[in-house]
Amino acid sequence: MTWTKLPLAGIIFHLLAIAITEPVQYCRFGHPDGEIDFCMGIIMHRNSTTDSHDLYLSMTVARSSALGWTAIGTGGEMAGSLMFIVYGDPKSGESPILSIRTADGHHQPRLVTPEDMGGADLRVLQADWMPAGSGAGLVQRSASPPAGPSGADYIAKLSVVCYACPRWPAAPIDALSPSQPWIWAWNDNQELDVFSFDAALAMHKHHAGNGGWGNFYVDMARSTSDAARRPSLPPLRPGVAQLGTSNTPIGSAGYLSSLRTKPLVVLHGCVMGAAFLFLFPLGVLLMRSGRANAFKLHWMFQLVSTAVMAIGVISGTVMSRERGFSTTHQWLGLFVALAVPVQGILGWRHHLAFIQIWRRTWISHVHIWMGRLVILVGWGNVLSGMILVGHGTAGLAGMSSLITSEAIALCMWLWIASRRAVSAPKGKADSGPATAWKRPGAEPYFAIEGSVDEDSDEDRGDIEKS
Ligand code: HEM
Ligand SMILES: *[C@@H]1O[C@H](CO)[C@@H](O)[C@H](O)[C@H]1NC(C)=O
Repeated sequence: MTWTKLPLAGIIFHLLAIAITEPVQYCRFGHPDGEIDFCMGIIMHRNSTTDSHDLYLSMTVARSSALGWTAIGTGGEMAGSLMFIVYGDPKSGESPILSIRTADGHHQPRLVTPEDMGGADLRVLQADWMPAGSGAGLVQRSASPPAGPSGADYIAKLSVVCYACPRWPAAPIDALSPSQPWIWAWNDNQELDVFSFDAALAMHKHHAGNGGWGNFYVDMARSTSDAARRPSLPPLRPGVAQLGTSNTPIGSAGYLSSLRTKPLVVLHGCVMGAAFLFLFPLGVLLMRSGRANAFKLHWMFQLVSTAVMAIGVISGTVMSRERGFSTTHQWLGLFVALAVPVQGILGWRHHLAFIQIWRRTWISHVHIWMGRLVILVGWGNVLSGMILVGHGTAGLAGMSSLITSEAIALCMWLWIASRRAVSAPKGKADSGPATAWKRPGAEPYFAIEGSVDEDSDEDRGDIEKS
């Protein structure tokens, strides 16, 4: 038998390849909410004749009328995408149209020509309307075909094979990518007067997130098969929204490659991460550093941190205008954005009062506790932001442990600083204007090591200057 001659590694590799070959599928069940409703599944099949991969695509589109069109396409944006656009009248007796197009920019897509294909080749294998199932458990419409699970009356069933599809030159189609970007788009109201392959299509709604278009990501590698025979068409499991696919980039490699397409998200994340993971905590640490100029360091540092955060607030606001304001992340972000400037004012008011009466006021306590809260909420928002943009468990676990270690370190620092301040020599503190804050029970202003004089040097300096 031939397989006995195969090296062991080859056998193991082959078994692994079979084991990890799984059809992948991505569905959006939007019909009940008046949104896009489709399913797509793929298999990437290694073709030894062409030494490339053939893309087998199954697609269903749920609809109840002849209005509009539904499309999916390879790539993260319209330009260079290989698009599969579906439209037609389910009641006409004609098959649904599967129009395969591409776009040179954000223009009306045009039909793909053989010259566009760069050696890849397309065959439509199936394009049929089906009545949409029995709709078990769902209220039946009065109109004849029973409504399917999604409430739609008809399902367009389509399948297509794209031979040597990675040769498509306009934008990468990567058979081994764990996170190949795709786009979906639809228009739900255009009345097409002729259902031809080159029918002029009206625009989808603008902006991602308003239901007009969006991205999804496919683990192409997971779907890859190198069996010798042609694969059967990718099955679509009913009711399963995602199998080896995601609304967000998959894995860290997928995440990295998507960063380039989302500069605002990257800016927002980096800037907010820097502010809340490093800058603000460092400013707190400086306040309790025991240095004579601790106060000055603190406010100057927090002012810089606030400026850095402002960049994040602006980028966050721009993104919120695009996608709406609804998540906890945004509400907590709004709280932090408003609280930080208030912190500045409180810290300053505290200082003005302190150099007069040498005691903490309620303002001081609000500043301290709100400051701690703001940093905690900021950390929480770093995590929730990571969840929003689709980081996996590994990334979240890493960030959580960074935050935990930082929290422990900061607590220990503050605790040691307060111990230092309490055990500071009290002799000189009994006289002079600063006594009040060293009375038993009163908390210290600064974490100071030496005498009151050393501590108040800095503050007196401030007074003299002002
Ligand atoms: C920009 C102007 C700011 C000034 C003038 C200022 C001033 C001060 C002062 C004087 C204290 C000591 C209070 C005391 O021990 O009684 C303090 C503590 C503190 N500040 Fe600020 N601050 C400013 C901004 C901020 C910001 C923006 C944050 C947080 C995001 C912050 C967080 C804190 C925290 C957490 C403490 C307490 C440290 C501890 O836990 O012991 N500060 N600040
Ligand atoms: C390999 O690709 C060619 C077209 O380029 C196709 O005719 C053939 O059926 C494919 N082979 C298999 C095993 O799928």
